[in-house]
Amino acid sequence: WNTLDDMDLSGKVVLTRVDINVPVEDGKVTDATRIERIKPTITDILSKGGKPVLLAHFGRPKGQPVPEMSLRVTVPTLEQVLGREVTFMERPDRAAIDAAPDDAVILVENTRFSPMEEANDPKMAQFLASLGDVFCNDAFSAAHRAHASTTGVAELLPNCAGRLMAEELGALEKALGSPDRPVVAVVGGAKVSTKLDLLGNLIDKVDVIVIGGGMANTFLAAQGIDVGKSLCEHDLADTAREIAAKAADKGCEILLPRDVVVAKEFKAGAEAQTVMAGDVPSDAMILDAGPDSVAHIGQVFERAKTVIWNGPLGAFEIEPFHKATFAAAKTAAEMTQAGDLITVAGGGDTVAALNQAGVAGDFTYISSAGGAFLEWMEGKTLPGVAALGG
Ligand code: 3PG
Repeated sequence: WNTLDDMDLSGKVVLTRVDINVPVEDGKVTDATRIERIKPTITDILSKGGKPVLLAHFGRPKGQPVPEMSLRVTVPTLEQVLGREVTFMERPDRAAIDAAPDDAVILVENTRFSPMEEANDPKMAQFLASLGDVFCNDAFSAAHRAHASTTGVAELLPNCAGRLMAEELGALEKALGSPDRPVVAVVGGAKVSTKLDLLGNLIDKVDVIVIGGGMANTFLAAQGIDVGKSLCEHDLADTAREIAAKAADKGCEILLPRDVVVAKEFKAGAEAQTVMAGDVPSDAMILDAGPDSVAHIGQVFERAKTVIWNGPLGAFEIEPFHKATFAAAKTAAEMTQAGDLITVAGGGDTVAALNQAGVAGDFTYISSAGGAFLEWMEGKTLPGVAALGG
């Protein structure tokens, strides 16, 4: 694919697919990270004499105009981050775009207000293409969706990847495509069922998989360990055993918690106890990995050159079950800062945990993507990337 450097943008309208699907509370953007990360692309387009027309979705309005999902709410933050005025167009048309000043930044209303967006209807792709001269996709985090504004329009115009898209693809390729080895993948989260494709792909690519969160319970139970009242997909015991056997076959080590933090209730400040993984009381549930497990993960990081992380090790949103995730993240961050480790993380929960632990800035790379990061790690082709044929 092309980058912005390959394109002549002078005097051109550059349709720029961005992902500004940001959290909003009481009509205000509460986390501007995704808006900050598209700034280099927008300023680059402007400095090359192009007029950026931003296309984006917001929430899941199901093909209907839903007032609370209007992208208008993002305008003040966009203006603040970009340091310039942003023109909002509810119903974009080429004449109005052409009439806007040359250095204008235009934001178009939520693409998902039309049912044609998610259906990737050629009529919508053609309409979007009629609004611009060049298509730039800077929405890596929406690249797993084959929609009119991500793939359909890309097929109709000269196209390129934006700065963030190129940065994401470069960082992920470095972490999993051609990494410095050994590579450790930290895979957490509640359910194995949502991570089967991920584990299947990682077994072929990484040297160690650290399994944490509720997922680990299913693996422990599959070994015949009584996990008490823990979240556990007992019906996936065979699958977990198959994954473990396949990993052993391929020389990929799977690391499960040695000790765990348990409680009788899942609530803030619940009375917690650390026990060996084999000693979970029958009326308790596992809510975090224990300090021995964290030390073990630290040793694995010591031997590694690259860590790629998706999913928390425990129920980090509720204290005191944040400890393993925060401690392992801190270790990884320190080793990164010392120049000993390349660390890449992605996924909504993971990034929230790293932010809460105050270490996100010390990782080598934090992806802006949730679902797209996961699908990329699963080895899937992302349609939004595949459509960037140049
Ligand atoms: C995200 O927030 O991960 C992206 O914006 C994609 O949103 P979606 O899952 O609603 O397609």
